[in-house]
Amino acid sequence: MIPLNKAEEFIKARLAERQATGAYRALKPESGLVDFCSNDYMGFARSSALKKLIDEEIQANKGSLNGSTGSRLLSGNTAYAEKLEQDIAAYHQSETGLMYNSGYDANVGLFSSLPQKGDTIIMDELAHASIIDGARLSFANRYNFRHNDLESLEEKLKHAKGNCYVVVESVYSMDGDTSPLREILELTELYSASLIVDEAHAVGIYKKGVVCKLGLESRVFARVVTFGKALGCHGAIVLGSTLLRPYLINFSRSFIYTTAAPFHQLASVKMAYELLGSADDEIEKLKDNIILFKKLLSGNKYFTLLTSDSAIQCVILGDNNKAREVGTKLRNAGLDVRPILSPTVPQGTERLRICLHAFNTIDEITLLADMLTKYNYAG
Ligand SMILES: Cc1ncc(COP(=O)(O)O)c(C=O)c1O
Repeated sequence: MIPLNKAEEFIKARLAERQATGAYRALKPESGLVDFCSNDYMGFARSSALKKLIDEEIQANKGSLNGSTGSRLLSGNTAYAEKLEQDIAAYHQSETGLMYNSGYDANVGLFSSLPQKGDTIIMDELAHASIIDGARLSFANRYNFRHNDLESLEEKLKHAKGNCYVVVESVYSMDGDTSPLREILELTELYSASLIVDEAHAVGIYKKGVVCKLGLESRVFARVVTFGKALGCHGAIVLGSTLLRPYLINFSRSFIYTTAAPFHQLASVKMAYELLGSADDEIEKLKDNIILFKKLLSGNKYFTLLTSDSAIQCVILGDNNKAREVGTKLRNAGLDVRPILSPTVPQGTERLRICLHAFNTIDEITLLADMLTKYNYAG
């Protein structure tokens, strides 16, 4: 047997560590089970109506290329992309928008380019990995404040230096709860800081997002909207002022140094927004499903259900192995529920993250609630 070199020894040891803590990750193909885990909250990814709209849009643009052929700054830009950005920005009541190939790219590109050495980024402790990674790539000072805690935020704001950016998610990806956006904005303004809101899990369910719902769009410095969740597509846009867009085009490396999205992706996004305009029934159905799920589990004695009014509902099991075990039992019963393990979430908060959808039936949700109660009782 050929002995392992140092790099391979390192890899082997790290993977063994993951196995030992029950945190080993592996890819799984589509399951065909009842979907309680995807971000396709409104069923757009599987919508035949959206597919038809996309097909028609592609047919109507026969001259479009298969690939974008380059970065937006070289050969990859089109009038279609620029018009789409303007339309999406207008929909969200923003001055401008700049598309990125994913929400991850958008956050990395925004936070790595905007805050400078001597500036300050203050983010909620539950901020998404893409926000953390972007901030890490900047040379700014970085601080966390306790989740949704205004006192903790103010404590950090008092010590902020340089330009200060406060970062929150309107709906948190791992806990499903919402941020007290109005109060956070007021505090941010009091300290002359700029608020940036990631609306990845809010747009669609709250139609234009929570910022628009609360009428705060002119006071929020920038927003990140992703297309891969309720819109059922892929990609993202940073919404902001007429100054922010050219700044990002000039300085945001995950925008500059990558091949632009191809036409068919842009067409999908355009049509998803068109469908969103008439998706009130899906939004109502999703809201009904959230109410039903919470009602069925209210008062249960066996586990903590995190407080959330969004499509993301979390059952805390507090241990990687337990979360895995209950997840496996649910999948064996035909329900696709995935455990979220540490280190993705803090130790002791390992959980089942249940995503509810407009297309989930009452029977499916009732079965899930029954199973959750049964397995935790048995366990
Ligand atoms: C809050 C938040 N922001 C950004 C992203 C990244 O978006 P994308 O999946 O489009 O890369 C995610 C995805 O999980 C997210 O939950």
